[in-house]
Amino acid sequence: MENEILNLETKARSELDKIIESSELEQLETWRISYLGRKGEISKLMSELVELSADDKRIMGSLANKCKISLERIYSNALELMSLKSSGSNSENTYDVTLPGRLNLIGRKHITTLMIEKIVKIFISMGFSVAEGPEIESDKYNFEMLNIPKYHPARDMWDTLWVTTDQDSDNIPMLLRTHTSPVQVRIMESGNPPIRIISPGKCYRYEATDSTHEWHFFQIEGLAVGKDISFANLKATLNEFIYRIFGNERKVRFRCDYFPFVEPGVDVSIDCFRCNGKDVENCSTCNKTGWIEVMGAGMVHPRVLEGVGYDITKYSGFAFGMGVERIAMLKYGIDDIRLFYSNDIRFLSQFHGML
Ligand code: PHE
Repeated sequence: MENEILNLETKARSELDKIIESSELEQLETWRISYLGRKGEISKLMSELVELSADDKRIMGSLANKCKISLERIYSNALELMSLKSSGSNSENTYDVTLPGRLNLIGRKHITTLMIEKIVKIFISMGFSVAEGPEIESDKYNFEMLNIPKYHPARDMWDTLWVTTDQDSDNIPMLLRTHTSPVQVRIMESGNPPIRIISPGKCYRYEATDSTHEWHFFQIEGLAVGKDISFANLKATLNEFIYRIFGNERKVRFRCDYFPFVEPGVDVSIDCFRCNGKDVENCSTCNKTGWIEVMGAGMVHPRVLEGVGYDITKYSGFAFGMGVERIAMLKYGIDDIRLFYSNDIRFLSQFHGML
């Protein structure tokens, strides 16, 4: 019976090939009836299965079924092909003007790009300008000049992806920058205060991904250096930024934190806009604390200023750094950072015209 099935399929296929060549739609219908019709070859085959033993029935049944599916498939392909050909050959039928038009999908900016533009605009209105730096960075700029010496435990704060094929002039391997802070150093090295820059860019970390961690993400760094720059300036700048992103009613909290390149260092949080402090015990947005951390900041460490040759008796500065996706997640209630990189149009299109 196995042979019978195989022969049937071969015969049906070769007949169909000829019909396609002939472009005779009527013959195609005859073919369909003789193989796939109610009294066709396949039906006959199926009825013969009844006489087989249970084991054979299982094996032959599956073979016959495969044959049926395969013939159905080549039939529908042939039908499509031949209908297309026949309408093409008749110029009157080439265009069906009654068909609705095809929608052209227009590409738009990614939500991360939109978020960066929104943030950058706010800081530009406060007198900052945009600076950029390389994504493949040296140990010197990513760590050393930011007061993070080799073998210092603080390096554990940034799990690093090293670039084994590339070294700096001291033969130290290059790395994928773990934050945008190296841009601070590059900008300070290349000029004198006053400085007011923000630096958006991609960062990388050797990190297992989950809903709040990605191995690549965007940060925006801020730096202001000049005479008499104080912590009050930092607070005023960040308060203004937060009000413009999250609304005037937000409370902003500055709390001591440690980053080697700032002193004092702070984490900046806003009061939880989901529970508004009322349902703290059950709120997952603020992790039951009532506060949501939005960025790290602080006064530029004197060692960093000295490292770039600035006179620390004359100049001081503040710096801050925030995760772009994190700000977008908070603002738009997105619960998984991986969505930013999955290119799912259902996610991306939600933000068209929204930002
Ligand atoms: N670079 C820090 C980080 O990646 C953030 C930061 C920037 C903190 C500037 C303080 C000042 O975690």
